[in-house]
Amino acid sequence: MKPFVITIDGPSGAGKGSLALRVAKALGFHILDSGAIYRLAALKALKSGADLQDEQGVLDAIRDLDIRFERGDELTIPYLDGVDVSNDIRSEQTASAASIIAAYPLVRERLLQLQRDFFQPPGLVADGRDMGTTVFPDAKIKIFLHASAEERAKRRYKQLKSMGIEANMADLLREIEERDERDRNRAVSPLVPASDAIIVDSSMMDLDQVFDLVMQHIEDVNAGRAPVID
Ligand code: C5P
Repeated sequence: MKPFVITIDGPSGAGKGSLALRVAKALGFHILDSGAIYRLAALKALKSGADLQDEQGVLDAIRDLDIRFERGDELTIPYLDGVDVSNDIRSEQTASAASIIAAYPLVRERLLQLQRDFFQPPGLVADGRDMGTTVFPDAKIKIFLHASAEERAKRRYKQLKSMGIEANMADLLREIEERDERDRNRAVSPLVPASDAIIVDSSMMDLDQVFDLVMQHIEDVNAGRAPVID
């Protein structure tokens, strides 16, 4: 079969990352965590002391962005300038910086080809906000994974607790809502489902159920049973 792309877009905390990992593993596909790319770029800008409100300054800071990922079985390790930054990129401060710089058209343009280069045989599962709309508009399978802000805050709370990190539900909910607001309302590549995406609400479903549903959809499309919308 010809190599193809599966895009998984949606707001933060909807479960895109875990789903992407499971689907990529099941199909033996490569994986692109585009959020990690924005986080690494934000981290680089922060480390360089760039003013995040200054698009040109951020662009200068990320001109020679040296990033790479090492994929393990369950975990992908991100490197910035040769240093493992797994912990740094997961913080809310980096997430929030990422969503600020992600609103700059020139930053998005700078990171576009880098993301497209992840598409290599036998195929790619790409997760993010604009995978199906901008980065891979011709993707064969497009999923938009949603969940309520409350449910996403709860999941994040549990995840932080399990990592031994103190968290506050109200703060998490506020941060998620602020980030959603920025991601949905920016002028370039806002967070919206592609017109040909299937929309899955994971609020009431666990990962196994979402995975089964998505794998069934992929099988149907590949067998010509589900419409591929042009
Ligand atoms: O997915 P994650 O939470 O790691 O993404 C961090 C931030 O990067 C998002 O809030 C969003 O602003 C930005 N992002 C983006 N486009 C993508 C992926 C992430 O704008 N494709």
